[in-house]
Amino acid sequence: MEKLIITGGKRLNGTVAISGMKNAALPILFASALTRDTCILQNVPAVKDIETTVAILSEMGVTVKYLDPTTLEINGKNFKPCTSPDKFVRKIRASSYLMGVELGLAGRTRIAFPGGCDFDGGRPLDLHMKGFEAMGAEMRTYSDGYMGEAPDGMTGARIYLNKASVGATVNLMLAAVLTPGTTVISNAAKEPHIVSLARFLNTCGANICNAGTSDIHIEGVSALHGCTYRIPPDMIEAGTYMAAVAGTGGKVVLTNVYPEHLQATIDKLREMGVTVMANNALETVTVISDGKLSAIELETQFYPGFPTDMQPQFASLMAVAKGTSVIREVIINGRFAYLEQLKRTGVKTIGETKDTAYIEGVEHLTAANMTATDLRGGAAMVMAALMAEGTSEIRNVHLIDRGYDVIERKFSALGADIRRCDDDPDAQTLSSTKAPLQSPT
Ligand code: UD1
Repeated sequence: MEKLIITGGKRLNGTVAISGMKNAALPILFASALTRDTCILQNVPAVKDIETTVAILSEMGVTVKYLDPTTLEINGKNFKPCTSPDKFVRKIRASSYLMGVELGLAGRTRIAFPGGCDFDGGRPLDLHMKGFEAMGAEMRTYSDGYMGEAPDGMTGARIYLNKASVGATVNLMLAAVLTPGTTVISNAAKEPHIVSLARFLNTCGANICNAGTSDIHIEGVSALHGCTYRIPPDMIEAGTYMAAVAGTGGKVVLTNVYPEHLQATIDKLREMGVTVMANNALETVTVISDGKLSAIELETQFYPGFPTDMQPQFASLMAVAKGTSVIREVIINGRFAYLEQLKRTGVKTIGETKDTAYIEGVEHLTAANMTATDLRGGAAMVMAALMAEGTSEIRNVHLIDRGYDVIERKFSALGADIRRCDDDPDAQTLSSTKAPLQSPT
C-alpha cells in the first residue's frame, strides 16, 4: 500500500496537461468489443480504472495492445460474452457496461456485482435493468451479480429514465446500437462522455442521433467496423487542478481542456473570487488566485450543471473561504464520508445532513493524516494537504489512482511538495517523480 506525503503552503505555478476523460474512455473501451474489428483509441488516460478495464477485456478474448502509454489498439474479434472475470468486475463501476455490450451482441449477459466508489446511499442499477427489459431481456440478480437473457431476441424500444443516469444511458446505448429497430432513450444523460460515446460509435457505423440532448434516438445497425478515435480531455481532472490553484494561490495554465465542459466549475471559481481565463481555440484555461476566497452556495446537478464529481474538491476550498458555504448534493446520496477525514485538517462544518453540508471558512488548515474514502474525496484531501501548514499523509492512494494519472507528478511539476512512498515504514521510499503507471503489455 502506498501513501502520499504532502507539505503544504506552496503556491502552484506553471503548466499542466490534462489527460483524457476516464468516464469517456471506459464506455468506449467496452464499446470497442461491439465492433469485432480493430479500433485505435488515442488520449486514453493512464489511470487504474483503465488498467482494470483492459484486464477485463483481455480475459474475455479481446486483444489490447499499448502503442504508447495513451494509445491503445483493440481488437474484439474473439470477444466471448458472459466470461467476465469476477475479481476485476468487482473493482469498477463501469464494468456494468458489459451488460449492454453482451445483450447487444449475444442477447444474454452475466456479470458479478460491479464495484467502484461505495457511497452510503448505494448505487442502484434499476434503471439499467428496466431499460434492458423494455428491449426484451429478462433480467435477474443471482447471489454474486446480474444475469439476463432475451428469449425472443432484443428489439428497439422507447425507454424513459426517471433519473438522467449516466450509467443507464451508456448501457442502453450499448445494448441498442446492434439491436434491430429504433430505441429512444428519454430523459437521457447529457454529459460530454455520452456525446463522446455516440461519436465513437457513429464513427464505427452506428446510427445514433441527438446524443447530448434529453432524447437519444438509436437505429439499430447489423454490424460495426473499427475506427481511430481520440478521447476528449477529462473535465474532472481539469476541475481538480483548477480548484487546487484556487486554494493554494498561484498561476497555472491547463492545456488539453475543452473550456465548454468546464463552465459550471469556472463559474463557481469566479464566484469565489478566482480569475479564470478560457481560450476555446487554444484549448487552455488559465487560473490565477491569491488564495483569498469567498463563501458560496453550491448544488450538484446533471450536466451542464455543477458536477457531483467536483463537490468534494470544492468542500476543501470552502474550508478556507471567508464566510459560510453550503453544498447541496442532489445526484449521489451519502457522498459526504470524506468530510470526517477533512475535519482532521481543521475543516469546520456547522451542520451536516445526508445531502447538505454547511462549511464555515477558517484562516488556515493544519497538516493531518487522512485516509482516502473514495476517488474524489481523496482528491479533496490532497487539496486540503496542499493548502495546510505542515506535512500531511494520505493513505489509500490506490483510490485516487483510479482516476488521476500519477497525481504527485503533475502537482510536483507545479511546485508542490508531494511525494509517494510505501505505507510500510521498512519499504523503500519512492521519489516524487515516480515513473508513469506501467502499461500492461
Ligand atoms: C457516473 C460517473 C461518476 C459520476 C456519476 C454522476 C462513470 C464511470 N461514473 O456514475 O463518476 O459521479 O456518473 O455524474 O461514468 N441511479 C438510480 N438508478 C440507476 C442508476 C442511477 O437510482 O439505475 C441514481 C443513483 O442514486 C446514483 C445516481 O442516480 O447514485 C447517479 O447515477 P449515474 O448517473 O448512473 O452515475 P454512474 O453512471 O454510476
